[in-house]
Amino acid sequence: MSYKEIKPDVYWVGAIDWDRRLFDALVPLPDGTSYNSYLIRAREKTALIDTVDPTMQDVLINHLAELGVKSIDYVVANHAEQDHSGSIAQVLQKYPAAKVVCTPKCKGMLIDLLMVPEDKFITVNDRETISLGDRTLEFIHAPWVHWPETMLTYLREDKILFSCDFFGSHLATTGLYVRDGGQVYEAAKRYYAEIMMPFRASIQKNLEKVKAYAIDIIAPSHGPMHDRPEFILKAYHSWAFDEPKNIVVLPYISMHGSTHKMVEYFVGALAERSVMVKQFNLAVTDIGKLAMALLDAATVVIGTPTVLAGPHPNVAYAAILANALRPNLKFISIIGSYGWGGKAVEQLAAMIPNLKVEVLQPVLSKGFPMEADFRALDNLAATIAEKHKEHNFA
Ligand code: FEO
Repeated sequence: MSYKEIKPDVYWVGAIDWDRRLFDALVPLPDGTSYNSYLIRAREKTALIDTVDPTMQDVLINHLAELGVKSIDYVVANHAEQDHSGSIAQVLQKYPAAKVVCTPKCKGMLIDLLMVPEDKFITVNDRETISLGDRTLEFIHAPWVHWPETMLTYLREDKILFSCDFFGSHLATTGLYVRDGGQVYEAAKRYYAEIMMPFRASIQKNLEKVKAYAIDIIAPSHGPMHDRPEFILKAYHSWAFDEPKNIVVLPYISMHGSTHKMVEYFVGALAERSVMVKQFNLAVTDIGKLAMALLDAATVVIGTPTVLAGPHPNVAYAAILANALRPNLKFISIIGSYGWGGKAVEQLAAMIPNLKVEVLQPVLSKGFPMEADFRALDNLAATIAEKHKEHNFA
């Protein structure tokens, strides 16, 4: 696919990665992704906003050649992560007069990560501007969306916000703008849950900061652009500010059926009490779906058998992940089974120190669950329903 003109003198020159299925060797990409890079050819100066993943650097270089770009004055690095910065070296090699424009923190990271020479940098403060002649770039520091060095770049005359990962989505598409709202909403929510959710307070601050700008187009560094910015701004506002919902997320593993029987019964007991449940068998779960569910939930109940005196390793993995993602949960509990003893509850509890939650009485059955275990599950379901009601979680 060739470059695309967004507005006169402003171009998308990025790369679409249709086949990538995993990011950071962790995050599933069911719909691929894109690395968006943008070129502004103003009257006096030319600026490139972000580059692309190094695996696709030739795509970017070819777009620039197709456009007949002879020189670049500024390579704006909104973010040091390599999927956007990883082709800076090749761009500098091709356009040796270019300077890298970034935050002071980003400069240090680009030196550390990519060995960009120190004399190549121009660092910019929050709200500082650079004139390109008939166009002006304004740099908006936006720490922790989702790294500490990140900034956004606002093209004043065209009212375009180049937002880097903020407002992005892992979605490979030939469409320049969001048109299938449902698909992009899910991809953007998945993206938010996987990398933005741990930084809720910073996201809130940066959303407030962006409100001061008149924006016609949000141009993120992954996925399609937003020419109806209210769609993604409203979604982000809801994810960052809303209270959790009347939802229990239930990630579980069962080896011989005891924990599964408890999960099955417990899901029914919650449903009878009008609590919505999202059940995830961790043996086959897409962790992006689990992260999205955690974004909305008020409660998580972990289901685990006891393996070698502790929780099943897949359950431990999910607990560590939830602890890192820091969802806005209010309550947590554990259900499961054991054969002769163990410390599954204690070990799981020690894995989630970041979650500021009330722990509700766990239910563990010795062997296959019996009548007393089902009554305990009923009590746990009733407690959760009451707690959600008290907090008006809808
Ligand atoms: Fe898309 Fe944080 O890099």
